[in-house]
Amino acid sequence: MTISAQSPVKPHGFVTRSIHWVSILMIAYGYYKGLDNVNQLADPALFRFEVIFASSLGLLFAFRLFWTQKIGGATRLPHKAPAWEHVASRTVHYGLYGSVFTIVGTGLAIAYAYASPVLGDFFVNAMIFIHEAALTLLPALILTHITGALWHKVIRRDGVLEAMTGKLPI
Ligand code: HEM
Repeated sequence: MTISAQSPVKPHGFVTRSIHWVSILMIAYGYYKGLDNVNQLADPALFRFEVIFASSLGLLFAFRLFWTQKIGGATRLPHKAPAWEHVASRTVHYGLYGSVFTIVGTGLAIAYAYASPVLGDFFVNAMIFIHEAALTLLPALILTHITGALWHKVIRRDGVLEAMTGKLPI
């Protein structure tokens, strides 16, 4: 089956698609560039960069959530898709947002606590633990998300992947 202009799937708009692909680049860069040790924050230039990077990623995801929920529309999963696909898709999307917000929030908390030692070791260690747990969870969710996209491309052939890659007429 080819995806045609009669496809029931409405493509994601330019803004949603652009944010989606920019956030992939930012997340890939974040993993590539990530710190190995909290003491690297002693370098003021690196400290500043980490805070700006984390804040930008957080703001991008907050805007993305607002945009898809209020303006551009969220999932393009067809209404008639099985209930388990709706549940799986929603769970993974919430998980992706939740992991990114957790990584950003705990990252900023670690930076804040590092700059103001009054918060103590327990707080810093708890934030580092949660930060690392979310950093471990996110790749697993991304892998599940990509598997889902391929499921729609190869098995369902319903245009859900093409709605995000921009191969459908807008
Ligand atoms: C090659 C990698 C990826 C592919 C092929 C892909 C594909 C897709 C597709 C097809 C959709 C639309 C699903 C729907 O309409 O229900 C989507 C939505 C979404 N994707 Fe991805 N994605 C990829 C990577 C990522 C990554 C790394 C993230 C990082 C968090 C991400 C986060 C999301 C989120 C949160 C949505 C829900 C809609 C939104 O808020 O933009 N994706 N993706």
